[in-house]
Amino acid sequence: MGTLWGGRFQDDASELMQSFNESFSLDKRLWHEDITASIAHVTMLGDCGIILKEESKLLQNELAKLRESIAQDATLLSGAYEDIHSFVEAKMIEACGNVGKKMHTARSRNDQVAVDMKLYVKKSLQELNELSYQMITVFGVKGEEVADVLMPAYTHLQRAQIVPFSYVLDAYAAMFERDMKKISQAIDLMDESPLGAGALAGTTYAIDRQQTADLLEFAGVQRNTLDSVSNRDFILDALHCCSSLMMHMSRFAEDFIIYSSQEFNFVELSDHFSTGSSMMPQKKNPDALELIRGKAAKVISLLNAMYGTMKGLPLSYNKDMQEDKAIYFEALDTTTACVKILTAVTDELKVNKERLNETIHEGFLNATELADYLVRKGLPFREAHGIVGKIVVYALDKKVQLHEMELEEMKQFSSIIQNDVYAALHPETILQQGIKQEMLSGWEKD
Ligand code: ARG
Repeated sequence: MGTLWGGRFQDDASELMQSFNESFSLDKRLWHEDITASIAHVTMLGDCGIILKEESKLLQNELAKLRESIAQDATLLSGAYEDIHSFVEAKMIEACGNVGKKMHTARSRNDQVAVDMKLYVKKSLQELNELSYQMITVFGVKGEEVADVLMPAYTHLQRAQIVPFSYVLDAYAAMFERDMKKISQAIDLMDESPLGAGALAGTTYAIDRQQTADLLEFAGVQRNTLDSVSNRDFILDALHCCSSLMMHMSRFAEDFIIYSSQEFNFVELSDHFSTGSSMMPQKKNPDALELIRGKAAKVISLLNAMYGTMKGLPLSYNKDMQEDKAIYFEALDTTTACVKILTAVTDELKVNKERLNETIHEGFLNATELADYLVRKGLPFREAHGIVGKIVVYALDKKVQLHEMELEEMKQFSSIIQNDVYAALHPETILQQGIKQEMLSGWEKD
């Protein structure tokens, strides 16, 4: 196994230990970041006179060539290496001989892995933000497509009040907009370079940490070197962003699983994102949404796993932290896949307008507005609430809706009710009033 240490040892690690210890199978995913950070490091070493200028140039060129070759052929990332850092260094020694052996001057794998992961997490969060934005855009397009469709909205999963269908999509867009802000804030918070911290206590060389930070487009340099190599807060923050996205997506999934059931029949999911039953020929199951709901549990658990890994660790670097890669990659891949699937499910969603048109006239969705009507006629709200409650009991008994009651029947409960009550009970009128009007303009976004 290609390792970077060995001098102090008399015996090789057992094979069992080598395969237990290796991280190359996972952290090869950091190849681009590892090479890019190494280019920045050797550039700085040359500029600071720690290695010769031509040595620095040679290493920069060979590193760039290696990056290009791997971009063309990812199978180059193979062999018995302990980790991606050992792999890249071995390739440089192969290409540049003794100069390759100078690449790791004034650096440790501890600051190297921290900078690699930061670069990777920053990039992946930016991509997740892009995908979330696309998802919100699809919610907007779908919302406009069904702009005239109204539906019952729920609290306690009991019919409550009328809203435009698009307003439900807008509620989810609002959640994902918050997630996008969270992601941007997480990126800002992690935007300091740990490179130059060495193993834990800096280095005796007069390196220029600002230069490597600038070359790698970090906003600044991370101040304390012990903290720089032991910090994985940025991974926790990224996992929190993933967990929040997953939690919101799982709620969307649950709502639309319910809406797609035969009992509700508000929407139909595209065949592209449903599956059948091996036994019951009539079944069409909302598997895509159920999987999103299920996978949310895993991602949230991964956040917990990372907290568990970091909790109680002494300063500074500890090998426990190598587990961050398995945790983060799994969470990132799952979240990314779910955002893509949810975007596509929404894009192909069919909204059952006829069914929704029926539902808004059932279930006393306008009872609150009847109480508001009585208030406008001069009654205190609590009294109006009590009167409407009694009217609902009466209507339930007679199996009619509020707007189907005769004026005389309503007047038995309050003589101030007049013919204009029917307009006040109409869904369209309801949505033209007060702040409810904002629901209709929900999609006027920048
Ligand atoms: N593979 C290691 C990790 O991911 C790299 C850092 C190793 N550092 C060390 N002192 N062994 O954490």
